[in-house]
Amino acid sequence: MNTDKFEKHILCIGAGYVGGPTMAMIAARCPQYQVIIIDINAEKIKAWQTDDLPIYEPGLLELVKTARGKNLYFSTELEENIKKADIIFVSVNTPTKSFGEGAGKTADLQYWEKTARNILKVSVSDKIIVEKSTLPVRTADAMERILNSNDKGIHFEVLSNPEFLAEGTAVNDLENPDRVLVGSQETARGRKARATVVEVYANWVPREKIITSNVWSAELSKLVANAFLAQRISSINSISALCEKAEADVHEVAKAVGADTRIGSKFLQASVGFGGSCFKKDILNLVYICESYGLKEVAEYWENVVKINEYQQRRFVQTMTRALFNTITNKRIALFGCAFKANTGDIRESPAIYIAKKLLQEQARIVLTDPKALENTRQELGDLARKFDFEADPYKAAMNTHAIAIMTEWDLYKTLDYERIFQKMEKPAFIFDGRNILDHTRLFEIGFNVYPLGKEPLTHF
Ligand code: NAD
Ligand code: UGA
Repeated sequence: MNTDKFEKHILCIGAGYVGGPTMAMIAARCPQYQVIIIDINAEKIKAWQTDDLPIYEPGLLELVKTARGKNLYFSTELEENIKKADIIFVSVNTPTKSFGEGAGKTADLQYWEKTARNILKVSVSDKIIVEKSTLPVRTADAMERILNSNDKGIHFEVLSNPEFLAEGTAVNDLENPDRVLVGSQETARGRKARATVVEVYANWVPREKIITSNVWSAELSKLVANAFLAQRISSINSISALCEKAEADVHEVAKAVGADTRIGSKFLQASVGFGGSCFKKDILNLVYICESYGLKEVAEYWENVVKINEYQQRRFVQTMTRALFNTITNKRIALFGCAFKANTGDIRESPAIYIAKKLLQEQARIVLTDPKALENTRQELGDLARKFDFEADPYKAAMNTHAIAIMTEWDLYKTLDYERIFQKMEKPAFIFDGRNILDHTRLFEIGFNVYPLGKEPLTHF
């Protein structure tokens, strides 16, 4: 590999949902840079080198293929790659801590710190270290202290460049971001490093969309952006409960409220609850930070966003159980969708998994179906998986069931032949639309008892 022809050597540590797509975009838009992505998971690295990528993301394979083998490489080799890198993006996972102080709330930074120590151990020249992972505010401070505690005379400048992409739309989000945020220390060295990272994005992102700030503002903005997005979903979900009591229709309410340009129409889709690896983790992280600064009321305010989300999922199970004559023991129920949202195979924190487990506790017989996430679901359920049926074909999944519940808003579920499905179900047949994506009147006409969210049910008795 001739590396001399490249203007910059960029390394990314962590080849997951963020590292992979983000670096593929940088490599594709900046052929003058060499981009290497490393991971401790050798299987994942191997998969990135094939056409069967380790994550499902529309348009990603095409993007990877434009640069792979030219200026984009996947590797498990840490030492040599760290040594030659000018800029190191770190996008390792930062899950919620499950032990000790802050357990269940704050971020577990062991992967991050390990990465920083690896960088420190093998580096022989100055480097810019970019926090791509979502981290608690002031992590850069700790990282800089670890990294700059060396006696080799090497300087590390730690920046924050949080990622705002959403799964399922990652490629478009990276190509046309609403904004790119780069935070640094407000020192001469900090500003110089910031300008270097801004230059990378300026290869394809308009300058006015690249925002710069101090490093703490950048770290905090990422947590706050996710908290605000999740807050909108919890707000509309809380109203969906009220609509069901007050004979209002949550869809109509969301439309009327969202038409106010000050509020806006996005992220007001009532649902069975938000999932994904980040909303809950990042809000709890925010809550923990507020608590540790003694801001009890602020912490409680944000914690309620998570509580409403849990309430919405519990409420959905209750609605199902009550509608199914207060017992679901031995009843066969199909869950349509396992992924936490459409167009991804990711099932982390998916409401479908929570609901499947709850229904199982009531001794229902559950069949799970999903076009992309069945294998991940099987793995996530571990030993419990043998208690579920897995069926890729939704028509087969629905056969002989008493009820179907829509868990994921896959387009596929909007266009199924529900007449055909109805014929093969036990009667009375029920459908619970946890995403409000179906034509409820039509389903009712077919013969289903229909339970939308935030709207009166349509029943035949
Ligand atoms: P992920 O689990 O998909 O990927 C993280 C990768 O890091 C894994 O492949 C893991 O093997 C690797 N890793 C862990 N420790 C390592 C080490 N010491 N050396 C090399 N590799 C190591 O996680 P993700 O979804 O890509 O998220 C990464 C970060 O980005 C998190 O902080 C998350 O909050 C944030 N984020 C995620 C999204 C998203 O849509 N998933 C969006 C924005 C931000
Ligand atoms: C979210 C943010 O949208 C990204 O900006 C952020 O970078 C990312 O988290 C992260 O930090 O990980 P993501 O979780 O991939 O992205 O997907 P979203 O589109 O935000 O959906 C999250 C959940 O909310 C899904 O379960 C989705 O179905 C649900 N949702 C979304 C609703 O229930 N209603 C809505 O109106 C919108």
